[in-house]
Amino acid sequence: MESITHENRKFAPLAAFSENAHINSMESYTTLYQKSIDDPEAFWAEAATDLHWFKKWDTVLDASEAPFYKWFDGSRTNLSYNCLDRHINEGRGEKIAIHWEGEPGDVRTISYAELHEEVCRLANAMKSKGVQKGDRIGIYLPMIPELAVSVLACARIGAVHSVIFAGFSADAIRDRVLDSETRMVITADGGYRRGKILELKKIVDEGIEDCPCIKDVIVVQRGDAHPIDCPMKDERDCWYHEEVAAMSEVCPAEEMEAEDLLFLLYTSGTTGKPKGVMHTTAGYQVFSYLTSKYVFDLKPDDVYWCTADVGWITGHTYIIYGIMQNCATQVMYEGAPNHPDEGRFWEIIEKYKVSIFYTAPTAIRAFMKWGDKWLVDRDLSSLRLLGTVGEPINPEAWIWYHKMIGGERCPIVDTWWQTETGGHMLTPMPGATPTKPGCATLPFFGIDTAILTDDGEEVDVGILAIKQPWPGMLRGIYGDPQRFKEAYWCKWGGQYYFPGDGARRDEDGYIWITGRVDDVVNVSGHRIGTAELESVFVEHPDVAESAVVGVPHEIKGQGLIAFVTVIDGRDYDDHLRKELVTMIDKSIGKFARPERILFSSDLPKTRSGKIMRRILRDIAEGKELGNTTTLADPSVVEALQAQYIAMSQ
Ligand code: WT7
Repeated sequence: MESITHENRKFAPLAAFSENAHINSMESYTTLYQKSIDDPEAFWAEAATDLHWFKKWDTVLDASEAPFYKWFDGSRTNLSYNCLDRHINEGRGEKIAIHWEGEPGDVRTISYAELHEEVCRLANAMKSKGVQKGDRIGIYLPMIPELAVSVLACARIGAVHSVIFAGFSADAIRDRVLDSETRMVITADGGYRRGKILELKKIVDEGIEDCPCIKDVIVVQRGDAHPIDCPMKDERDCWYHEEVAAMSEVCPAEEMEAEDLLFLLYTSGTTGKPKGVMHTTAGYQVFSYLTSKYVFDLKPDDVYWCTADVGWITGHTYIIYGIMQNCATQVMYEGAPNHPDEGRFWEIIEKYKVSIFYTAPTAIRAFMKWGDKWLVDRDLSSLRLLGTVGEPINPEAWIWYHKMIGGERCPIVDTWWQTETGGHMLTPMPGATPTKPGCATLPFFGIDTAILTDDGEEVDVGILAIKQPWPGMLRGIYGDPQRFKEAYWCKWGGQYYFPGDGARRDEDGYIWITGRVDDVVNVSGHRIGTAELESVFVEHPDVAESAVVGVPHEIKGQGLIAFVTVIDGRDYDDHLRKELVTMIDKSIGKFARPERILFSSDLPKTRSGKIMRRILRDIAEGKELGNTTTLADPSVVEALQAQYIAMSQ
């Protein structure tokens, strides 16, 4: 370990790790990386041969209709087959797929063969209700095995899953169901979170009240030990356990075309309306498989644990598809990290002898705050690799993670990627890349990056661009091809993919992500478009205008501060504040609540009427204000500042 400055410490992978790693030296990373860039088609074709194909592809990459790229065109395959049947056929059916632990402490152990059987039964139940290839299926479940079963059952019969994180509100369910004309919802009576029951089915009922596209609702009984109140609607609703019990465990996997839609996952952008990100079959299959194998250095004896929810892309790729295609054993946990106490995660790692642990910087900062006492007497020696995802990790949190959780023995993979990229884009290779605290380091194989100015000039500090298509890339925005082109492909004349992140290249050629360059805020690793909150606030009859900005937050990474202009003559007080918070809870979900709401008679604007968000950010960070000479009315700023200071006291 060589230490240069605190800012720029470098941690070389330990020989003991590298020795057995898939990618075991910088030389092998560089050689393979170069190959993958010089001849991406040969590289990806070779990776794909590890997997099962009903029919092989005709072309690896078809760029004739860019940016609507096609990967492995002409092939036929099935993700559920590659996650399950392939392993069973090769004699690994008895291997444990999931060690599941519910928040109250109930446990289940599920082998690949058992998972396969359950997936087939549910797939048959869906078919018996008329679900066909291409139909959209909403999934609104807690982190229970049935969530993985539902996802894989959809993939098995070619239905398109649209998982909605169970923290979203009824209105958010409705928006997603209507946008994608969802045919069926799979939900549960409830789920456990911090000792409380979330009554999920009731939220679904409210959300789909006026959604004629929904024909069936399948309900998992989570509360079988203690009944959870769950009204059922005749004709529409049925119990999961009754349906699957009546079904055969034989259900051949549908032979899917390469570009058949696999799933939709809604994510925030810079407008008020979330985007239905589309991922298709063959390319996502290969990309999720290969990134999992190399970045987590998966080996047959590993016990992997990703603490994300399947409601986000991290769970799709690195709980289900990528991990299960590698036939790994994993831990799945339902609840909160601090229930019944702040030591729950360490207890789980010790109990299941977790060897690979993947979590988010916001969680790491919370652990730091809770204190090291929760680690005393915990045996974390099974761990061999750590990972983080979701936002830039601050070096202090990285060092704490390295020392206190990794025992200075485990490499940390800081993985930069997005809902849209499908899988890891920038990441260390754990057995090869020397790491630096806070840095996602270098591109994964086949990922060709550049840092550019707005005008497309190459620079060391600027905006990250991806110069070549990759198999896991999104294929579109559901129902809105124009928005797909505009949001991701127009920035540099249609040539490069624009992820919306700023980046800096250092003297070693490492890439440091500096955060979003658009109006997307990353709260605890959840992406929230400020425009989404603004469009909620202006629905209130007393609100004229609003602007929401992101500011640094000790635990969450970023927090939201809302500036709200009230219509002349209307009162503004805590009552209005509460009403606005309730509106956010109702339209998006509690996780999108702003830290603060500031009221004003106007917002700082340029003389042409554009809201100056930079100034709002300065106010919200309690900073000295920069240049205010372009402001139409400087007194607005003084009033807001005074209010901010008063609220902070
Ligand atoms: C945005 C994507 C990728 C799954 C979870 C979030 C930020 C993500 C990192 C990282 C710095 C990161 C980016 C990106 N981000 N990982 N390791 N270092 N920033 O998925 O909701 O699609 O958000 O999260 O800003 O654009 P998402």
